[in-house]
Amino acid sequence: MVTRSELTPATLDEVDLTDPRLHAHHDLGSFWRRLRAEAPVHWHPEAEGRPGFWVVTGYDDVVSVLSDAETFSSERGNVLDTLLAGGDSAAGRMLAVTDGRPHKALRSVLLKPFSPRSLEVVIESVRRGTRRLVEEAVERGEVDFAADVAAHIPLAAICDLLGVPPSDRGHIIELTSSALGSEDGVPDEESTWLSRNGLLLYFSELAASRRSKPYDDVVSLLVTREVDGRTLTHEEIIFNCYSIIMGGHETTRLSMIGGLRALMERPDQWRALTSGEVGTAPAVEEVLRWTTPALHSGRTATHDTFLGDQFVEEGEIVTTWMASANRDERVFDAPDDFVLSRSPNKHLSFAHGPHFCLGAFLARAELTALLESLCELVSVAEPAGPPRYVYSNFLSGMSALPVTLTGR
Ligand code: HEM
Repeated sequence: MVTRSELTPATLDEVDLTDPRLHAHHDLGSFWRRLRAEAPVHWHPEAEGRPGFWVVTGYDDVVSVLSDAETFSSERGNVLDTLLAGGDSAAGRMLAVTDGRPHKALRSVLLKPFSPRSLEVVIESVRRGTRRLVEEAVERGEVDFAADVAAHIPLAAICDLLGVPPSDRGHIIELTSSALGSEDGVPDEESTWLSRNGLLLYFSELAASRRSKPYDDVVSLLVTREVDGRTLTHEEIIFNCYSIIMGGHETTRLSMIGGLRALMERPDQWRALTSGEVGTAPAVEEVLRWTTPALHSGRTATHDTFLGDQFVEEGEIVTTWMASANRDERVFDAPDDFVLSRSPNKHLSFAHGPHFCLGAFLARAELTALLESLCELVSVAEPAGPPRYVYSNFLSGMSALPVTLTGR
């Protein structure tokens, strides 16, 4: 799929947000605008045996759902696919799908390795690695920015953090990409299942080896530290390694790819960034808002409640669409413009509330390293072929972006 057409449905009910092809083939900007105006808390009808669910699109409503984990729980899953399938097998054991006291206890242990101070060494290695990747890309001239540059930066950082040895990283890249789904929208459930299990098995072995000989990495921390008065089970450790790799790889990669595309399409913004007129810090925030790699976060209502003027029943699925909230005209001036100097820019790309992205600091550091390397090493970036869009109802962006990079 080369370009995405605008989605202009006759009725709101005919749009199936669960269909990965919808997101790969269409730009949903005007659909989100219409939902925010006409039905900010919209009931998505049930289909093909799947339950219906609420679709929340306004900034303030999204923030209020994500802030209130007592009313809107993550324990039955936090993405549409698992919620519609009836639950997440890692519920109560993996950070993103755990609530209340167990969530707080596990999160407080994990906050330390994700803090700016602990990440210093990882980030220094991200800077060096990113510079090298961009240098190599400039030498080659024409590359697929998605596969040749962006894919390597987040994965190397996560592997550093988890203590995955360099010799295993190729294997982990392959498993992660295939665990995340298909390239063409036709689900290959068997290969996805095999790759997910491959990752779980890999982390199971890594955890066993760290148990006998701990190092200074997150796997060793999970193996050795007590959480709420007990050590974590082997399964809990494996699920959380899995969640870190799945949560931090593709999202960051997609923001890098979408960020470069937006810059290539807007020479004025490219000039503003490379001349230093706009700093990298606001530029990173605008890239995050613009790309919104995680389209939605899902929750389940724990009791009857009102959301806007809609009555939400206990047990119903509530999905909050950051893709829409980040373009809410009541919060962002000219929300459909890519403006690197935008301020304030309180985007929701990392969600909000108790489940706010644990890797936000790391992701920002990776994007900063990329923008700095592009500014330093690249004078002109141009498209060298059509991009390919990701088929997913959860992740948004491009899986291929051929570009020509000319050095300074
Ligand atoms: C949570 C987005 C990078 C690890 C989240 C959530 C979002 C998100 C939206 C909240 C999910 C929910 O509300 O249910 C992103 C984006 C990223 C990114 C857009 C990059 C641009 C990372 C990185 C890591 C990471 C680099 C780790 C290496 C996590 C974890 C959680 C999380 C462990 C669960 C936190 C909790 O439940 O307390 N992320 N993420 N993410 N993210 Fe990220």
